[in-house]
Amino acid sequence: MRLTVVGNPDNRRVGLFRRAVRDAGLPEPTVLSWMQVLTGAAPPAADALVRVDSPGEDPEVDRLLRRSATPARHGELVGLADTYAGLVAGMSRVAAGGATLLNHPDDVAALCDKRRCHALLSAAGVPVPAALPPVAGYAELRAAMAAVGWHRVFVKPAHGSSAAGVIALAVGPRRVQAVTTIETTPDGLFNSLRLRRYDDEATVAALVDRLAPDGLHVERWLPKAGLADRVVDLRVVVVAGRATHAVVRAARGPLTNLHLGNARGDLAALRASAGPAAWTAAMRTCERAARCFPRSLHVGVDLMFLVGWRRHAVAEVNAFGDLLPGVLAAGRDTYAEQVHALTSGRWDRWRSAAPPPDREVVGCGA
Ligand SMILES: Nc1ncnc2c1ncn2[C@@H]1O[C@H](COP(=O)(O)OP(=O)(O)O)[C@@H](O)[C@H]1O
Ligand SMILES: [Mg+2]
Repeated sequence: MRLTVVGNPDNRRVGLFRRAVRDAGLPEPTVLSWMQVLTGAAPPAADALVRVDSPGEDPEVDRLLRRSATPARHGELVGLADTYAGLVAGMSRVAAGGATLLNHPDDVAALCDKRRCHALLSAAGVPVPAALPPVAGYAELRAAMAAVGWHRVFVKPAHGSSAAGVIALAVGPRRVQAVTTIETTPDGLFNSLRLRRYDDEATVAALVDRLAPDGLHVERWLPKAGLADRVVDLRVVVVAGRATHAVVRAARGPLTNLHLGNARGDLAALRASAGPAAWTAAMRTCERAARCFPRSLHVGVDLMFLVGWRRHAVAEVNAFGDLLPGVLAAGRDTYAEQVHALTSGRWDRWRSAAPPPDREVVGCGA
């Protein structure tokens, strides 16, 4: 088995995956950096199995993905649609030599577009928050909210990740309130690691209008369950169809992403609060969500239990969502689990159960 990893050598996921490969007694994977991919390196050979990691935050890689002459300023929320196009083009370069990608480029392309991902999940009967039809700006957003009678929504950049550009918006008869990590400056939007509240409607409208040209996905804001004084959700990693690893993300505000300073919560306490039936149902939902991406070895599902614990919904599914350092299941971390799936035949069985590509256009089945 010849493994190649596309990613930056100092990326933590790349390092952990390489370690898992070595620990399994397999030959050290070849590493191809995103910089090499984007500057014309030869693609991996046809017999290679390729893990592709996210391009990360290298400013030059980001510039090349966006095909822009100028690098973005640190943290600047700019060109998300162009970055996405660059990612899709980069993945097809990686695949050009006929290698097998552990997460298929078509799956990754769907996963990195929150609108497509939501539509696939919804068509497969996976519980997801209801979504608005496409909106091109703040005025359309308010009109669409009024038409369905919603007062609270999550506005998400279609190609965002790690909470970048996400806005939790509540509107009342006279006031609006937006909670987001976005910092506005006169010449741009910047992603920060701190939640801010905006209640000036002109500012909120300008935020939404600036993000809209790169695509928005708007969902009803569902009330998440709580543990102690925190709001919680889960990141569940599904490997070759099996939900194996989970972390609780506990937050004071509506965004639970861990890099925002939120703490890992108590999984045993969450399972006790949910009860065995609701827990099992939630894990089955994560596995059904993964079934929508049947040519992908791993996906990371963001799963929300709703207040009362009886119901749950999938906030998103991530193509690059397997960094759960220190979380072990049967003695394996998420990377060792993937290597185990590759060497034990589970990956082959999972892939061969995937519907042929021409059936996927009509839905992904449950
Ligand atoms: N419809 C929703 N209702 C309530 N909370 C949500 C909803 N969608 C997302 N969230 C919360 O917002 C955060 C980020 O949303 P997510 O869709 O995962 O985007 P990102 O790619 O930025 O992580 C998550 O912590 C999730 O709990
Ligand atoms: Mg997320």
